[in-house]
Amino acid sequence: MYKISIILTLCAVKAPASTIVYTFDTSQGLGRRFDGIGGLSAGASSKLLVNYPEKQRDEILDLLFRPNYGANFHILKVEIGGDAQSTDGTEASHMHYPWDKNYQRGYEWWLMKEAKMRNPDIKLYGLPWGFPGWVANYTENPYADRQQLAMYIVNWIKGAKTEHNLDIDYIGIWNERKYDIEYVITLRKTLDENNLSSVLIIAADDFNWDQISADIFTHPEFNKAVYGIGIHYPGTKSSVSAVDTGKPLWSSEDFSTVDDVVGGGCWARLLNMNYVNGLMTSTISWSLIASWYNGLPYSGAGLMTAFEPWSGHYQVTTPLWVSAHTNQFAKPGWHYLAHGKGVGNFTFGGSFVSLQSPDEQDFTIVIETISHNMSVCIRPYLPPYTVQNQTVVIKLEGPLKIINKLSVWYSKLSKEEPSSMLIQKTGILVTDGQFQMDLGIDEIWTLTTVTTGAKAKREPPPSKPFPVPYFDDFENSSEFSEPNNLTPQLRSYEVLRNSTTQNQFIRQTSLHNPVEWCGNDNHPRSFAIIGSNDLKHIGISVKFNLDIANATDGVFLSTRVNATGCASIQSSGVFFSIYPKLSKFVVSSDFEGLHPLQEGTLTKIPVYSRWNELELQVAGNYAWGSLNNKELFDINNIPDDPSMGFVGLGTTEYGLADFDDLRLFEPKQDIFKLKFSVVV
Ligand SMILES: *[C@@H]1O[C@H](CO)[C@@H](O)[C@H](O)[C@H]1NC(C)=O
Ligand SMILES: *[C@@H]1O[C@H](CO)[C@@H](O)[C@H](O)[C@H]1NC(C)=O
Ligand SMILES: *[C@@H]1O[C@H](CO)[C@@H](O)[C@H](O)[C@H]1NC(C)=O
Ligand SMILES: *[C@@H]1O[C@H](CO)[C@@H](O)[C@H](O)[C@H]1NC(C)=O
Ligand SMILES: *[C@@H]1O[C@H](CO)[C@@H](O)[C@H](O)[C@H]1NC(C)=O
Ligand SMILES: *[C@@H]1O[C@H](CO)[C@@H](O)[C@H](O)[C@H]1NC(C)=O
Ligand SMILES: *[C@@H]1O[C@H](CO)[C@@H](O)[C@H](O)[C@H]1NC(C)=O
Ligand SMILES: *[C@@H]1O[C@H](CO)[C@@H](O)[C@H](O)[C@H]1NC(C)=O
Ligand SMILES: *[C@@H]1O[C@H](CO)[C@@H](O)[C@H](O)[C@H]1NC(C)=O
Repeated sequence: MYKISIILTLCAVKAPASTIVYTFDTSQGLGRRFDGIGGLSAGASSKLLVNYPEKQRDEILDLLFRPNYGANFHILKVEIGGDAQSTDGTEASHMHYPWDKNYQRGYEWWLMKEAKMRNPDIKLYGLPWGFPGWVANYTENPYADRQQLAMYIVNWIKGAKTEHNLDIDYIGIWNERKYDIEYVITLRKTLDENNLSSVLIIAADDFNWDQISADIFTHPEFNKAVYGIGIHYPGTKSSVSAVDTGKPLWSSEDFSTVDDVVGGGCWARLLNMNYVNGLMTSTISWSLIASWYNGLPYSGAGLMTAFEPWSGHYQVTTPLWVSAHTNQFAKPGWHYLAHGKGVGNFTFGGSFVSLQSPDEQDFTIVIETISHNMSVCIRPYLPPYTVQNQTVVIKLEGPLKIINKLSVWYSKLSKEEPSSMLIQKTGILVTDGQFQMDLGIDEIWTLTTVTTGAKAKREPPPSKPFPVPYFDDFENSSEFSEPNNLTPQLRSYEVLRNSTTQNQFIRQTSLHNPVEWCGNDNHPRSFAIIGSNDLKHIGISVKFNLDIANATDGVFLSTRVNATGCASIQSSGVFFSIYPKLSKFVVSSDFEGLHPLQEGTLTKIPVYSRWNELELQVAGNYAWGSLNNKELFDINNIPDDPSMGFVGLGTTEYGLADFDDLRLFEPKQDIFKLKFSVVV
């Protein structure tokens, strides 16, 4: 059994940095099995990636997944969509209704296939955030019917195989919410009954090592069901009881930090220290790639950034290259060396881990000396520590003594100068199992016998603002996919095709409240946004059709949307809602329509059995709206604040609605000149 705190019996820290010898040796046994470093696509974090032009999209996917190229991730963890807001949007469920099954929705299947195509060894891990209401028999407790929930999850795993030939390796319980011991046991049993014994349960993607460890000790069936313990944002520490379970310990969601140079430092520290301090053998970053609109929650919190599908622009940032330092030079199934024999802290700050391949032919050391201020993550609090320049002697003993040369990859993080990332340096010649190194501050070093390391060079096109005018008739999207760029914040929108006319359109598909993840989904409105968060003077129009079964009673358009994600229903802006059954419309400055700026009737404008056109234009304090080209209002009392934001559309009540021909445009000069004598 490993001890969590390893004491290095070395010189007093007060002395000036002097040369200290660190011995690396595999002859007394190894540390834990390495399970791999991963990225998490969830909370609509890959929303915009799928829309990229193919050339840049392939470049990005190569940077993420292709072995010996870029980040070379070992694990891809994805959200099992639940039609519920899960941070930066909603992801579609494979079963909106009990009578529904569809494995073509959203972008996670696509992403998993692209990852597998590049690296057949990549491990896949699925986890739900929210669930369609029916899964919980319309309660807020997903464990209300455990068998039903287990089958819902098993269906997703089977769909991955039958529709996409994807084998899911790991499955989770409920992201950052309570687990249920009986359910975990039921899930294991249901997996086994469906010939899915190879799918391993990671539990429970929450924050508490000790609670699940205690449950593992007291419930033998639960113990058997749980393969590994996955905890979020552990701050590099696990617990004695977690270690005592003997199970693999994972940081199954970590990072969430903006991908600047400090983000890179955070990630480098975590990748080493999660094992040095916490014996965690896998670390998974949310997000894999920051591919949601800038201005949505946690903007830029990914290992690289790609939120401009219209320009093809993307940014390869420091955390991506930091990932490469470990990922290109060790694989799941390798073993860490033992603490004190190749894993530990340096006396004058920084840390090192070493890993060995199962055939004992390859050996890798990863060193980081990231200073405190250069490695602060979004959470948890990082107590101060110091790192100094130091000279270290590394002594390879036992079987390692035969190594005579190590390839060297180096990064230096800097706020003042451009960081140097993943630079190949002259190899180290090891004489008699020993070599000396000068370690500076904010450095990452990989020393390895692996000779396949490489650094991709890419020139992304320049950045451009969101294009206005913008038009989408959804004819270019594949059926059941999410509409390009339009990002659902409440409920689920997908592209469908009319089998008679072949016309493609989008449908709000969700009928009920989901089992919510973040506490704003229990609301009759559905909502989807598009554009950018700085649109001021803007027009939006869309066609809609309510001549369908289970239709909603109304739809709305909005501009200057200033709150998204879990705060969507608190948004201000301009909201133009029509309620055909009540034959009325409302213009309001709040999402819920509680504070009308104007109300009126829709008299003599037929809405049923046809496609209709709804339009809203806003400039300064002026707004103008029409239905089927008949003006409904022109008003000049739009609040100054918020002065800009996303535009959006949605449904006012529960139920389905079809939309088509979405347009964003500059407000029409003539309307505003004529009505208000303003030039916009
Ligand atoms: C949940 O609903 C289904 C379908 O109506 C029903 O068969 C099942 O018994 C319900 N489960 C519970 C625990 O009430
Ligand atoms: C069960 O899985 C194994 C291996 O994955 C496969 O060979 C076998 O055909 C499966 N059996 C059924 C009944 O699906
Ligand atoms: C390694 O150093 C860090 C930072 O100073 C410290 O928090 C951690 O406890 C140390 N770990 C061990 C195993 O000594
Ligand atoms: C680290 O950041 C803190 C707070 O921003 C600052 O006071 C301190 O001087 C910084 N330390 C170093 C070594 O840059
Ligand atoms: C560390 O060493 C580098 C390179 O020799 C030097 O530029 C830097 O000033 C040193 N930093 C400290 C804090 O001693
Ligand atoms: C659909 O694709 C065609 C052919 O590439 C293109 O000309 C057209 O502009 C696209 N339509 C939309 C709405 O993007
Ligand atoms: C398909 O389009 C036809 C012709 O407009 C219409 O009558 C029919 O209701 C549509 N079907 C669906 C499922 O929307
Ligand atoms: C409408 O809802 C009923 C159940 O309430 C369901 O049987 C029917 O299939 C639904 N139709 C559509 C198009 O969703
Ligand atoms: C949106 O604007 C309203 C009105 O100015 C303001 O009260 C609210 O704080 C803003 N919300 C956000 C998230 O900025």
